[in-house]
Amino acid sequence: MRFVIALLTASVAALGASAQRVLSVSFGKHNSKPPSLRRRSPTYSQELNNNLTGGGYYADVFVGTPPQPVSLVLDTGSSDVWVLDNNANICRSAKLQAYFGYCISTYNPSKSSTYSLVGDSFSIQYVDGSGATGDYIKDTFTVGGANITNLQMGLAENTNINSGLLGVGFPANVASDEKYPNIMALFEEQDLIATQAYSLYLDDLYAETGTILFGGLDTEKFIGELKVVPILPDAETKNYTSFSVALSSLTMTADNGTVTNFTQAVIPAILDSGTTLSYLPTSMANQILAAFGAVDDTSSDGTGLVYVNCDYLSDNGNLTFDFQFGGSDGPLIRVPIDELILDNVKGYVEIGLVVPDLPFNNVCSFGIQGSSGLYLLGDTFLRSAYVVYDLSNRQIALAPANLNSTRSNIVEITKESGIPDVTGVVSQVSAEQTATGLPGTDAGGSFTATATAATTPTTAGSAEGSGNSGIKSVAVPSWETTAVAALAGVFSLVGAGVFML
Ligand SMILES: *[C@@H]1O[C@H](CO)[C@@H](O)[C@H](O)[C@H]1NC(C)=O
Ligand SMILES: *[C@@H]1O[C@H](CO)[C@@H](O)[C@H](O)[C@H]1NC(C)=O
Ligand SMILES: *[C@@H]1O[C@H](CO)[C@@H](O)[C@H](O)[C@H]1NC(C)=O
Ligand SMILES: *[C@@H]1O[C@H](CO)[C@@H](O)[C@H](O)[C@H]1NC(C)=O
Ligand SMILES: *[C@@H]1O[C@H](CO)[C@@H](O)[C@H](O)[C@H]1NC(C)=O
Ligand SMILES: *[C@@H]1O[C@H](CO)[C@@H](O)[C@H](O)[C@H]1NC(C)=O
Ligand SMILES: *[C@@H]1O[C@H](CO)[C@@H](O)[C@H](O)[C@H]1NC(C)=O
Repeated sequence: MRFVIALLTASVAALGASAQRVLSVSFGKHNSKPPSLRRRSPTYSQELNNNLTGGGYYADVFVGTPPQPVSLVLDTGSSDVWVLDNNANICRSAKLQAYFGYCISTYNPSKSSTYSLVGDSFSIQYVDGSGATGDYIKDTFTVGGANITNLQMGLAENTNINSGLLGVGFPANVASDEKYPNIMALFEEQDLIATQAYSLYLDDLYAETGTILFGGLDTEKFIGELKVVPILPDAETKNYTSFSVALSSLTMTADNGTVTNFTQAVIPAILDSGTTLSYLPTSMANQILAAFGAVDDTSSDGTGLVYVNCDYLSDNGNLTFDFQFGGSDGPLIRVPIDELILDNVKGYVEIGLVVPDLPFNNVCSFGIQGSSGLYLLGDTFLRSAYVVYDLSNRQIALAPANLNSTRSNIVEITKESGIPDVTGVVSQVSAEQTATGLPGTDAGGSFTATATAATTPTTAGSAEGSGNSGIKSVAVPSWETTAVAALAGVFSLVGAGVFML
């Protein structure tokens, strides 16, 4: 899934504001420190560029022989890797780029000696209504210094997305009807890493880069104990399709120590790096918004954002949200208010972007919105966490992120051990987690049933896509259609921004 707010890109481009280029990336291949004489598989560390205006995290990778550099949005919510063809519609059209953002980087198959064509069936559509169609191809793919050969990828000819995606979800969840081994499967098959696992460290909102570490974890990047929760299977098919975990408690601690508990039920929440904001059940989100006097403008004719008074940032410097998973012994992630209130809309307000009548002048946007049916914890949550995704053992481990860490101590993840029982750095603040030790796979087991019984996405049913912008209509699972409807406001903001100029 991918909920990147395209407007922010489009309008910044249209305004001629100086858009920064993606930073150059130094690939590091880190070999783990061997504690024994056993040969260890290496791990691969890929830097991720934090693009605040584009709303995503970009990995600078290489495709083909000789290697062609491309920037791809890292997406834990989808499973296909795809790149923009150098002849893609969006890259040839100034009009499309004014709307969806500059065509970021392309790949030319005729210049690669290792390219081969698989077929013309590539077609993917994301929850936010964006999508891409074209060919399926195979070529060498270099990420974090690892050369993956013959990776099947989409080559987008028609799309309304201005960069390709690096989908690192479950292999079984690829968009194609004909399943194929995706990047995670090939990473393991080609013996590059020991098991299908990686760790994600997005770092501070204003940090320029984060890291995805394939095959390992870095104990310098988190605080205290990593705690494991099981990934929830799809309620109907029992298949594992998304990184859904049981969110068992969400509380807010004010500066004066007052705790407000927003929890109504255990909900399945998908940890999705391809989503900019976080989406919680509507009734829960409404309570949170009310606590901040925030104004919800996400209705279908609105701007798609929730507005909040920026003063909360300076007046409530110590206010935090505590997200806990898998029950009272599970991992607890404390998200400070300055990761949830985003000072990113003043430019639009100044140029007269129609926002509703607001009871405050210092306008910020809120990083939490309501959603019916699909709950996502995106970058506004993920930046505060260190997250280890173990696809092979269907587990996720979380710990509070050690922000702005410049040190590194990499530990390999093996098939047998799964996520190792390791401790990160000592907390610089107060104790973040009460219990110690790994709860193990059974932790929160009792929550699994509750959570899956609720609204875990299903892949049943289909509907026609919108078919605009030259995108072929593709079958969209019904839960995605629901989410598109719920979040349509995000797209209408694109229209508002562009037509006004
Ligand atoms: C952010 O993304 C936009 C398009 O989405 C691009 O124009 C810009 O160069 C990017 N900036 C950085 C710093 O990566
Ligand atoms: C990956 O391939 C490139 C050539 O395309 C080569 O220079 C590099 O050494 C390879 N890296 C590894 C880790 O094998
Ligand atoms: C991390 O670094 C960024 C950029 O230098 C800074 O704005 C931020 O306050 C730092 N965060 C923490 C938690 O130290
Ligand atoms: C669920 O998984 C099974 C076995 O892996 C597969 O046969 C089936 O098609 C999957 N169902 C869906 C809806 O993907
Ligand atoms: C603590 O702060 C909250 C939010 O600012 C406020 O609603 C509450 O009344 C305060 N409680 C006390 C005991 O001061
Ligand atoms: C918040 O309420 C839920 C549901 O009543 C409960 O399970 C959870 O433990 C509470 N959280 C805290 C931190 O007390
Ligand atoms: C936050 O906490 C620190 C240390 O307890 C205190 O010095 C500071 O005044 C607090 N900030 C606010 C805005 O309450």
